[in-house]
Amino acid sequence: MPEVYNPQLGRKQSYPYEHRQEERDWHWGMVINTNRCINCNTCSFACKSTWTSGKGEEYMWWMNVETEPYGGYPMGWDMRLLDDLGPEETIFEAAEQGEKVKGYVAQKEEWEYPALGDDSVHGEYPEDEVVESDPEKGKYHDIWQFYLPRLCNHCKNPACLAACPRKAIYKRSEDGIVLLDQERCRGYRKCVKACPYHKPMYNPETGVSEKPVGCFPRIEEGNVPRCVSSCIGKTRLHGNINRGPNSGHPNGKKSAAKGRSPVNYLAQSDEKVALPLYPQFGTRPQVFYMPPYHVPPEFLTQMFTPNTDQKRNDWPGSTYEESVKIIQKRVRNPSHHLLGVLQLFGATTRLIETYTVKENKVKGWDRKGNKVVDMPIEEDLEVREGEKWTNQ
Ligand code: F3S
Repeated sequence: MPEVYNPQLGRKQSYPYEHRQEERDWHWGMVINTNRCINCNTCSFACKSTWTSGKGEEYMWWMNVETEPYGGYPMGWDMRLLDDLGPEETIFEAAEQGEKVKGYVAQKEEWEYPALGDDSVHGEYPEDEVVESDPEKGKYHDIWQFYLPRLCNHCKNPACLAACPRKAIYKRSEDGIVLLDQERCRGYRKCVKACPYHKPMYNPETGVSEKPVGCFPRIEEGNVPRCVSSCIGKTRLHGNINRGPNSGHPNGKKSAAKGRSPVNYLAQSDEKVALPLYPQFGTRPQVFYMPPYHVPPEFLTQMFTPNTDQKRNDWPGSTYEESVKIIQKRVRNPSHHLLGVLQLFGATTRLIETYTVKENKVKGWDRKGNKVVDMPIEEDLEVREGEKWTNQ
């Protein structure tokens, strides 16, 4: 089986699709700040009403929000597979004889409750006190939960693509979006079994499968996906994950900023505040999560890091759990630069290609080099004179 380097794991791994395309200049990527998500599911309904409101699509939630640790759509989608993987084994390396990917087919009843476990908390309510979460002091809530928005990751090693014997799934060269050609599909459902995130879904009415499309018509016009533009909590930022610090001006316009995209900064700069979901699957997912800072780091370590004993030097701290603690602190007490980038979340429906943070200003430019954001990082605070508000 061919080998490819996986920077999320820091090692080579096998990946069975020989026509895999190398890194592109432009690649679809998203960052979600879990600390801002309130589980309103505006994203889920925006996605559903746009893409999956037809016959046979009743259970297709390409975008859904789960309460961790007990939610899951389909039920237990992550643990069922993780329990079957050996240490340091990706789903490609764990594949059985005759298969390309280690997968799991969720049964009908596991798809029936998209909101299962909603708002259920982990832990016992303390009798005498509520612990104030403060990762600086190593204090976390005794009872906790958080919301995890889930969508197709438009992976760089897509399992769905590798598994399809019809080669009906492909990765677009212009933006890395993974699409399913329904004309070629014969309903073999190998993709449904292979995707560890369970986002390709079979339509019994049409006899072929469907998968999320990354809102490609909006991306082509320089707009962010519907789940991003509709998010009332401003939890998301979308853009070119491959645009690194040495990139030139967008569209050659000197008036626009050179350099990296804000999503690249969040996921791949030294701050590394946005992490992939279960990188140990080996698919190189391109949705990155800023972890919740009130949740015990051991839970987040198994969910958002390679979670091995082999610690890497491009991560902070001496263990992955230590890294998570440091990242939680960075998210809770953002640097001035990070604070500026956080202001870009939900600031415009245009896709922000580059940005600058200078003094108290953050600015963003689109792919054509047009300025689309120009705002203060911290607003002036005005203290009103006169009578004080009291509880009396
Ligand atoms: Fe291939 Fe999935 Fe269709 S495996 S044939 S795209 S159902």
